Amino acid sequence: MGKKVLVAAAWPYANGSLHLGHVAGLIGGDVLARYYRLKGDDVLFVSGSDCHGTPIAVEADKQGVHPSEIANKYHAEFSDNFLNGLSFSYDNYTKTTTDNHRQVVQEMFLKLYQSGDIYIKEEELPYCSHCQRFLPDRYVEGECYICGFSSARGDQCDNCGNLMETKKLKNPKCKTCGSTPEWKTTEHFFLKLSAWQDKILKFIEDSFAWRQNAKNFSREFVAQGLLDRAITRDTEWGVPIPLDGYESKRIYVWFEAVLGYLSASKEWAKDKGDENLWQDFWQNNEALHYYVHGKDNIPFHAIILPTILMSYGNLHLPDRIISSEYLNLEGKQFSKSRGHAVWLKDFLAEFDSDTLRYYLVSNGPESSDANFSWADYMAKTNNELIGNFGNFVFRTLSFVKKNFPEGLDFSENIDERLNNFLDLTKNTFTEAGEEIELGNFKKAIRSVFKIIEDGNRLLNELAPWTMIKTDKEKAANNLAAFVLVIKSLAILIEPFLPQTSIKIKKSLLMEDLKWQFPAKDKFIVGDLEVLYQKIETEKIDKQLNKLSQN
Ligand code: MF3
Ligand code: ZN
Repeated sequence: MGKKVLVAAAWPYANGSLHLGHVAGLIGGDVLARYYRLKGDDVLFVSGSDCHGTPIAVEADKQGVHPSEIANKYHAEFSDNFLNGLSFSYDNYTKTTTDNHRQVVQEMFLKLYQSGDIYIKEEELPYCSHCQRFLPDRYVEGECYICGFSSARGDQCDNCGNLMETKKLKNPKCKTCGSTPEWKTTEHFFLKLSAWQDKILKFIEDSFAWRQNAKNFSREFVAQGLLDRAITRDTEWGVPIPLDGYESKRIYVWFEAVLGYLSASKEWAKDKGDENLWQDFWQNNEALHYYVHGKDNIPFHAIILPTILMSYGNLHLPDRIISSEYLNLEGKQFSKSRGHAVWLKDFLAEFDSDTLRYYLVSNGPESSDANFSWADYMAKTNNELIGNFGNFVFRTLSFVKKNFPEGLDFSENIDERLNNFLDLTKNTFTEAGEEIELGNFKKAIRSVFKIIEDGNRLLNELAPWTMIKTDKEKAANNLAAFVLVIKSLAILIEPFLPQTSIKIKKSLLMEDLKWQFPAKDKFIVGDLEVLYQKIETEKIDKQLNKLSQN
C-alpha cells in the first residue's frame, strides 16, 4: 500500500465565473495529485464550490433570486470547467451546501463549543441604518490601517493581505449605499484563537516545505498576537448554528468552508461505499496533506484551520502549504468590475486546455507575481509546445512509423551520446519528482523540457534520416532509444499535460504507467495525432481587442 496523500485545493466562491488567475493558484493541486498517483501512492484530491457567504447572498438580492440559484449555477459551471475543461483529477469536487457538509461543520462547532474553544460574546458590529441591516465585514470599505490602501474590505486588505478588524478601518462606508455605518451590539460566537497561540506558532516553526509566503505571513501574523475571532454572522444564508436561539445567524465561511476538506473526504468515503475510508487520510500520522491556494487564503489554511483541527483533536494537520502569489493580466491586476479578465470558460471554448496548463505552470506565480500576456501565451505555445515538444515527438514517431512499421527492438548498441541522454531522462524522474513534492512545479517542468531541448539537438546531430541510407541497423537502434525517451516523456508530462500524455500513450500503445523509467522493450508506433494546433495571430488579436474594449 502506498502513502496516503491528501491534496486539498481551495474552494472558489460560487458568485461569479472563474478567471485564469484562479487557475494559476489551483493547478499545482492537480500536478501533485497526478504525480503521487503515478508514484503508486493513494491520493485523495478534494475541493468544491464555496456556496455560502455574503457575496453570494448579495448577488442573489441584486438579481431577486434565492442564493441557492446563484450558487448552483456557478457550482455547475466550476465543475464543468475543472473536470471537463481543465482535466483536474478531483476524487471529489463537491460544494458547501450539502447535508453532509452541514453535519460535519455543526458537529465540529458543537464539540468546540462544549470544550470552550468556541464561546459567545457580545460584539459591536457595523450596522447600516439606511440598508437596515448589520453589515457583513466584506460590505464595509475603508482605508487600511496597516498599509493605507484606500479600499480595504472589512475583513481583509487586498493590498497588503492582512486580515482587518473592521472597527479599525479609517473612514468606513457601507459598500451598498455609501453611508457611514453605526456600531450596534449583538451576540456572536468566537473562536478562541488566543488560547492556541503557542501551539500554532510551534506548528508554523516546525513546518517543512511551505511556500515562503505562507511561512513568513503566518509567522508574523501569530507574532502580533492571535485574537479571538467571530465565526458567526447575521445572515440567513449559510450553515445554521446547531443551538437554539440563534436562528438569524449563520456560521461564517472561515470556520465553515475550510472544513470542506474534511467533509469532502467523508463524502468521498461514503460514495466509495466505506464510510470510514476518510480516516486513513485524516487519522493517520503517516499521511501527507497538501493545501493549495492563492496567497489571500494563507491565514485560513495556516492558522484558522489548524486551530480548529487541533482543538477538535485526532485529525491530521496541514503538512505543506502551497500558496501562490498573484497572476496579473497584461501587466495589470485581474479586475472583475473593470472587465479586465480572461474568463476560464471563454478560454476553454477557444483554446486547448493543456496549452493553458503549460503556460500557468511554467510561468506560474510561485514565489513572485506572474503575468499572463496573450502574446507570450502564443509564443510559448507555438515555440515551446509545438516547435520543440510537438516537433520532437512527431518527427521521431512519424519517421519510425514510416520506416519501421513492424516496430523497433531496444538495443544497447547505440551512440554514446544517446547513452548519456537516456541517463539524463532516467534521472529526471527523480529530479522532477523531488521538485514536484516540494511544490516547485516550475523547476520540475523545466527539467522535463530540458529533455526535449536536448532531444531535438541530438536528433539533428545523429540525423537518422541520413544514417538509415548507409547503416539501417544503427539508425534503428538510435531511433529506438529516442522512442524510449518519448515514452518517458509521456509519463513525465502527465502531471502537467494530461491530455497530451493520453495522445502520446495512444500512439505508442502504452498502458498503465508508473513514475519510473519505462522498460526497454519493443516499440511499435500506432496512429499519430497532432499534439497541438498552432495559434494564429488573428486569434490573439481578437482576444486583445476584447480586453481593450473594457
Ligand atoms: N472561497 C474562499 C476564497 O476563495 C475560501 C477558499 S478556501 C476554503 O477565498 F478552504 F476556505 F474554502
Ligand atoms: Zn448601506
